[in-house]
Amino acid sequence: MDKIVVYGGQPLAGDVSISGAKNAALPILAAALLTAKPCTFSNIPDLMDIKTIKKLLASMGVRFSGDRTLEVCAETITSSVAPYDLVKTMRASILVLGPLVARTGRARVSLPGGCAIGARPVNLHIKALQDMGAKVDLREGYIEATAGRLKGAEIYFDLPTVTGTENIMMAAALADGVTVLHNAAREPEIVNLADVLKGMGAKISGAGSDVITITGVTSLSGTEAAIIPDRIEAGTFMIAAGMTGGEINVRGCIPQHLEALTNKLRDTGMTIEPIDDGLKVKAAPKIHSVDIKTLPYPGFPTDLQAQMMAYMTIASGLSVISETVFENRFMHVSELARMGADIAIQGGSAVVRGVPKLFGAPTMATDLRASASLILAGLVAQGATEISRVYHLDRGYEGIEKKFSALGAKMKRITS
Ligand code: EPZ
Repeated sequence: MDKIVVYGGQPLAGDVSISGAKNAALPILAAALLTAKPCTFSNIPDLMDIKTIKKLLASMGVRFSGDRTLEVCAETITSSVAPYDLVKTMRASILVLGPLVARTGRARVSLPGGCAIGARPVNLHIKALQDMGAKVDLREGYIEATAGRLKGAEIYFDLPTVTGTENIMMAAALADGVTVLHNAAREPEIVNLADVLKGMGAKISGAGSDVITITGVTSLSGTEAAIIPDRIEAGTFMIAAGMTGGEINVRGCIPQHLEALTNKLRDTGMTIEPIDDGLKVKAAPKIHSVDIKTLPYPGFPTDLQAQMMAYMTIASGLSVISETVFENRFMHVSELARMGADIAIQGGSAVVRGVPKLFGAPTMATDLRASASLILAGLVAQGATEISRVYHLDRGYEGIEKKFSALGAKMKRITS
């Protein structure tokens, strides 16, 4: 397993280009299952999770050509099974459930199971498909769904589930009648998916709001579309600039997708200004502590909570970080503490008391965003920080050590 070693103390400077969004590309690639026609998607990021979903879709008969600009064709679906050995490596595999049932009338998808950040059930996905007329059984760890043509329905999500909204929006695109999703998630990745589906001929309105209306059609065409930039990658680099006393240009991001973070970073004393293709980000002369509460979009994103916690470990005061989306997303706390951070977990909140300095140490990544927070801490720690199990990082960050090195960080990957 690869490791990354970071030598702290270098202020970041220069330009970083943001890659396509993992969490937009995954549902959009799954959407190709809805049509027999070829689709072409540009700005596909080079990530492990993308390789995984391509492997899963290929096992169903989907054909690919290209990479960053990718042609995807599901002319014939030879299998409607998403096997456990693939799904256990990437929960987002659940995104084939809705499209498979809509296109073929059946699906056998392994239950994703929990992961480092929580139980992450998919009960809301299942209930919505049942509301649309699908018969869904849970057997031997698999979701077994069958349906004739799905029927439009009024769906009420108990909470705004991102992949749940995406799964059902895709299923409803081919249903008979109108489906209305209430309490839908509002993330920009959902809007990107809706735009792709509309390009394929789907009739969708309200994406980006908490009520999405889909009028089913009998078939969908191919389309060409671009994946939006990754707001979580952009936010990670913005926080890194703030931590290291640096000044960088984050190019290719969409500032509107980052407003909750930008607002908080300005409160810490950072200067953040729009430039022609992104944001210019400058560190605060003195880092002020701020409180964070993660919420569904447009609230502060849970996927930037760990990175913001790393930043607050060296701020001048007390920061209360409340994680309201997942029940166990503080796995990075113990690793940050090994570097000298002063953090106390109290229920769903972490109280971070700023310290003057962090110290390099051997650490272990536990999940994708926790490993990003260790990279950030390493950028400012005295001495060397070694991060093991970086396969977590490679799932969601494209060439992270190359991008940080280009900004002046002293960082290298040790391939075992
Ligand atoms: C998506 O996960 C993202 N993944 C996650 O990003 C992100 O953290 C999360 O949304 C929240 O923004 C992808 O888009 C591929 P949810 P998802 O369904 O859809 C509960 C990353 O680092 N819930 O919005 O799985 C669930 O347990 C990843 O890139 C149910 O109870 O998240 C959680 O507490 C990590 N029942 C809350 O809802 C359900 O049926 C939000 O989950 C579904 C969800």
